[in-house]
Amino acid sequence: MDTIRTDVIGALVAAVPGLTAERARELLTAPPDSAMGDFAFPTFAVRDRFDNAPPPAVARQLAAAIRKPASVARIEATGPYVNFFAEPAVLARTVLESARAAGARWGATDLGQGRTVVIDFSSPNIAKPLGIAHLRSTVIGNAIRNLHAFCGWKTIGVNHLGDWGTNFGKLLSAWEKWGSEESLKERGVEFLKDLLVRFTEAERADPAFRQQARDWFRRLESGDPEAKKVWQHFRDISLAEFRRVYSLLGIEFDSWSGESAYVDRMAGAIAELEARGLCSESQGAYVVDLTAHGFKEPFLLRKADDASLYGTRDLAAILYRRRDLGARALVYVVAADQKLHFRQLFKVAELLGVDVEPVHVEFGLMRIVNAEGVREKMATRKGTIVLLHDVLQAAIERVHEIIADREWDAARKSRVAHQVGIGAVIFNDLSRTRTRDIDFNLQQMLDFDPETKAFKGETGPYLQYTHARLSSALRKYGKEPPASVDFTLLTTDEDRAVLRQIGRFPDIIRDATTRYEPSLLSRALIDLCGEVNRFWRNQRILSDDAALTDARILLVQTARRTLRTGLDLLGIEAPEEM
Ligand code: ARG
Repeated sequence: MDTIRTDVIGALVAAVPGLTAERARELLTAPPDSAMGDFAFPTFAVRDRFDNAPPPAVARQLAAAIRKPASVARIEATGPYVNFFAEPAVLARTVLESARAAGARWGATDLGQGRTVVIDFSSPNIAKPLGIAHLRSTVIGNAIRNLHAFCGWKTIGVNHLGDWGTNFGKLLSAWEKWGSEESLKERGVEFLKDLLVRFTEAERADPAFRQQARDWFRRLESGDPEAKKVWQHFRDISLAEFRRVYSLLGIEFDSWSGESAYVDRMAGAIAELEARGLCSESQGAYVVDLTAHGFKEPFLLRKADDASLYGTRDLAAILYRRRDLGARALVYVVAADQKLHFRQLFKVAELLGVDVEPVHVEFGLMRIVNAEGVREKMATRKGTIVLLHDVLQAAIERVHEIIADREWDAARKSRVAHQVGIGAVIFNDLSRTRTRDIDFNLQQMLDFDPETKAFKGETGPYLQYTHARLSSALRKYGKEPPASVDFTLLTTDEDRAVLRQIGRFPDIIRDATTRYEPSLLSRALIDLCGEVNRFWRNQRILSDDAALTDARILLVQTARRTLRTGLDLLGIEAPEEM
């Protein structure tokens, strides 16, 4: 699209007094609907150059005055906009040739230029079951990591496990009282969670418990071998459970350095703060006072009983990531309720002169919608956390039911059920602006029409299904399309609409990456598939006309590759057949 865009910009610059090419590029947008052309120029931004005439009048005047470049078929005024319609054959050639030349890199822009970004995502707390709340961080973080890697960043995906803190004092103390190796083996993390709940209740009745927990945590922090051994055991058990979920999702991490990895670095971080005179005492605790920077609450470094804190470990982690890992960008994919923590943390890092701008990529809550369509408050059901593993299995099971009557062998059925079930869950999470709250509704994310045997709705399976259909058309064609096709044949409305969706792919990828917003990509893929399916309803791909078939197959091949790359980036598998 870029060459046509450049032509349009040139024509605008020549027609609007004082308009620079940069400004024109900024102002030029894509109309919401391809019936309104391929580029739209808003005239209200330049009406001062036309005696402040009303924008629609400026638009009419400009549309008549602009000299039409060869790549543009038509220029029209619509309300305050001047709309440009690309010459269909030029559009087809530009988009399809650029995509072919880029190959598997179609859509990528070298934004990272080899720089390193650390993406902190998923990061659950050990000794607690992985709940549905952690799904969001995991899935959004993975997509952000993929997008960055695609755009030339060196990515380090870190699972910053919550594997340290005063809770472990409680847990070790509870283990000493009520621990049972047998129950732990049998019930795993669920048992650890119960121990912690039991301890917290007991602590309320008897303050002596509190002291015992503190003592245990102090032993752990000072490297006591017995405390360390039990802690390690809990960590191993938790990790084994977490890994089952990650492997279902097909998500991996480059590092599992959690909070415990920074225990030895906290003193150094605090010493740096002290050297800059930034530390003070407040109600017995050791803190960084941030009132001068607009915060009511201080940033806590150490509690009155000397125990270290979440924030202190995060501060040590920032220093490590910037200095030892050489990160130029730091991304934290963490729920919105930790906003204050990150604002404070980033301020303290800034006061230490850390030359990097960290970002907190926040997201809204996920609510479970049960089979009766009722939203269940919080992520709890019957008093227990809804286990992520169970939820994922439920999605896979549901696909098994849907595809039960296909004449496939069992291995293939379970492969497809897995791909589609997990794809549905992932897409559901990535399909809406991440800061919004979303529903987890299995019925909706696996919207299936038994009559046509098609997956529909704005869902992952619908994208996968469209991908499989495109793949099947290519299989039927059975060879590589020729290097050069007759682009003047790709000029129907439907061709143009698909081309336009493919053509904006590089812009979409760039925006999704720089705004940490995978939903932009999700929605663009929905739009692409919408146009592909409209194309299918109204046009034929394979026909007796060999030249037309070749041209359309090239279009299909490019649409498929675009969709495939998009699904890969979102972390969704793309089956060839469904
Ligand atoms: N463990 C925390 C939680 O589950 C999230 C950690 C996020 N990462 C970080 N560097 N603070 O709430």
